Amino acid sequence: RSFLALTALAAFTVTGCGGGQGNVGSLEFTAPLHIPPVLDPAPGPDGVKRFPLRLQEGRAEMRPGKPVGTWGINGDYLGPTLRAKRGDRVAMNVTNTLGEASTLHWHGMRLPAKMDGGPHQMINPGDTWSPEWTVDQPAATTWYHPHPHGQTARHVYRGLAGMFLIDDDKDVALPRTYGTDDIPLVIQDKKFKDDGELNDNTGGTFGILGDHILVNGTYGPYFQVTTTNARFRVLNGSNARVYDIGFADDRTFHVVGGDGGLLEKPVPVRRFQISPGERVEIVAGFQPGEQVLLKSFDGDSDIGSGDFDLIKFTAAERLKPSAGLPGRLADLAPPAKPTKTRTFRLGGSNINSRNMDMTRIDEVVAAGASEIWELDNVTYSHNFHIHEVVFRVLDIDGEQPPEHLRGPKDTVFVPSGTKVRLAVEFGRHTDPKTPYMYHCHILKHEDQGMMGQFVIVPPGTEDHTSRTVSMSG
Ligand code: C2O
Ligand code: CU
Ligand code: CU
Repeated sequence: RSFLALTALAAFTVTGCGGGQGNVGSLEFTAPLHIPPVLDPAPGPDGVKRFPLRLQEGRAEMRPGKPVGTWGINGDYLGPTLRAKRGDRVAMNVTNTLGEASTLHWHGMRLPAKMDGGPHQMINPGDTWSPEWTVDQPAATTWYHPHPHGQTARHVYRGLAGMFLIDDDKDVALPRTYGTDDIPLVIQDKKFKDDGELNDNTGGTFGILGDHILVNGTYGPYFQVTTTNARFRVLNGSNARVYDIGFADDRTFHVVGGDGGLLEKPVPVRRFQISPGERVEIVAGFQPGEQVLLKSFDGDSDIGSGDFDLIKFTAAERLKPSAGLPGRLADLAPPAKPTKTRTFRLGGSNINSRNMDMTRIDEVVAAGASEIWELDNVTYSHNFHIHEVVFRVLDIDGEQPPEHLRGPKDTVFVPSGTKVRLAVEFGRHTDPKTPYMYHCHILKHEDQGMMGQFVIVPPGTEDHTSRTVSMSG
């Protein structure tokens, strides 16, 4: 096994310059980064890990001295970081104390459709929903958020979201001390009304594009680095904005994982693009005593691309030496031979000229199938997320994707006017009556109906599967 000395690649010391103009006001980066608490309950006598989750109203001080009305899970804003191991039996007890119905969807989790928390699993005010499943997928950074049809943008924007980390015994030697050298970074943009409250008016083509960028709900955050290498699990939890992330001094760092788990090997980059719903795991090296900003650069996307400072890292005068970065992270089998190709034409707010219909099954897929899904974007940029599956990006306009996008994924950016081909691997939980979703993860577009439904059925029964969903139960 070969090891790379990552610190050798870390570049120069930068003293808090950066010149971002996107964030309003002069950002001092004096607020300690909020680290969402971990929720990792001990299994009960029946071996099931039960996670109590409460959707609740709150107030959060996103800007100093200006508390705003928010929603959160077990807290005022955002939710805890859930943690489970491959093989764990988990149960979520989701209690809705809000004044309106919502759902909680496990984005990136491979589970039976009834447990998925999509628009068919509404939780009415006062009710508790208790899905239960066995975690059976490689280590990954997944996340959770509401999915009520037509209301997802507002519910996520108000603060309902959190990370769900999956561990695996086969985990390689990456930094893994949560909150110390393994740090969640949930990136979200907000805008505020004159009275100081959150502005959730979703005008425009893409909906909300805020002028204040928060990390884990903290505006102008800093984080003290205490190790020579640190791992950051970056989630774009924004409604629409696409970020082009890198360090202010343009240092090289490594992408080690994406939505569905680790890459084959660390990929050195200076920037990566991340669209809503995507996760990118990186490992960066630090020099003792340095300060450096993580930023979003003015990239080439048409969805809110701009120059924004996100967070300041302050390295301690003495850093604990980290283990070298493993040369190999995961064994990824090449995508299986596809049995079918489906084409999805992404229009302004529709897919294949159709809008979401809760009663219509758009696609019927055989359990365990490998298929090509071809996305043909004929308008401005979108992205595309498929529930339950993992996919590999085969090509973007006929070209291989950048190396750090070649790992397992569940959400992909589809730039304006491009064709993206995915090799999709479907799971084996069959349920001909309960659909999973695929959709644009620009939440305004999803709410406008840029979403479709598929069911997974026993192989050979595709043709006599009903194409309508009964909404009674
Ligand atoms: Cu992150 Cu269907 O959602
Ligand atoms: Cu999802
Ligand atoms: Cu879209």
